[in-house]
Amino acid sequence: MRALVRETKLSAEDLIQPLFVHAGDPEAVASMPGVRRHSLGSLVEECRKCAAAGLRAVAVFPRIEADKKDAAGTHAAAPENILFAAVRAVKEALPELLVITDVALDPYTDHGHDGLLTADGMDVDNDPTLAALGALAVAEAAAGADIVAPSDMMDGRVRTIRAALDAAGFEKTLILSYAVKYASAFYGPFRAAVGSAGDAVGGKNATQPLDKGGYQMDPANMREALLELQLDEDEGADVVMVKPAGPYIDVIRAVREATLLPVAAYQVSGEYAQIHAAAQLGWLDYERTRDESLLAIKRAGADMILTYFAREVAEKIR
Ligand code: PBG
Repeated sequence: MRALVRETKLSAEDLIQPLFVHAGDPEAVASMPGVRRHSLGSLVEECRKCAAAGLRAVAVFPRIEADKKDAAGTHAAAPENILFAAVRAVKEALPELLVITDVALDPYTDHGHDGLLTADGMDVDNDPTLAALGALAVAEAAAGADIVAPSDMMDGRVRTIRAALDAAGFEKTLILSYAVKYASAFYGPFRAAVGSAGDAVGGKNATQPLDKGGYQMDPANMREALLELQLDEDEGADVVMVKPAGPYIDVIRAVREATLLPVAAYQVSGEYAQIHAAAQLGWLDYERTRDESLLAIKRAGADMILTYFAREVAEKIR
């Protein structure tokens, strides 16, 4: 009877698995139980399992070695960027599985910011960053990415990326825009996973986590979310995303009601780590908390959810 009247259902088709890749053997990410930095080989194997579980898409993030990083993130568009090899390998093995790639410079910059910095190093330099983002998006599409996902929060990047993709013949490549991305403390475990916490420039000893408040949104703001949404819609986004998800379900609901575009939500690394940590302490029931956290995001209005739980939940639904 409850199933008959249930309003919200999770399905494997709604879930997107984020995955990490690096040049080297697979290794565990300490802050994210069950998550690994994959080798090219283990990434393809993991993607096979994702596809078999009914997932339609994965999002691949590279961890770049410190000696390849610089202030300008020049390795982003270098042909030997491991991300491109990863995308090619996954698309060759599993052509039907959609591959999403991030468009932002943080894996490639030694300071860990998503863009180039101004001369005094105090701010990201919005406009000069746009060309680098366009070049990265085109290189990702050329490697076979089906969907590029600008997560950098520079103003005007969706328009720049759309124009760059079209000019290079990638009219069919979708843009999933991180339209509403908050400057959140919940990204901590992800930054450890990809090494983008700015360690290379002393971030390891910093008492504060890397502050991206100059370009990511103030957690206090809702109206601004609708403004960011409008800008990205006007610039040509195909799907708009809210991130993080759980602490911002009111924003997901508001975005859902304000747009006709598909809405994505990103249940980020800190949301995942929280549930794991409490479960390890015996304070929360792991499976029920995990499933409830995803159901709440779906109920709030997300059409698709990026979550580190994607494959295991999809397997359970099956
Ligand atoms: C990079 C990026 C971040 C995440 C996705 N893309 C981190 C950041 O903005 O610092 C976070 C994902 C997560 O925490 O799971 N632009």
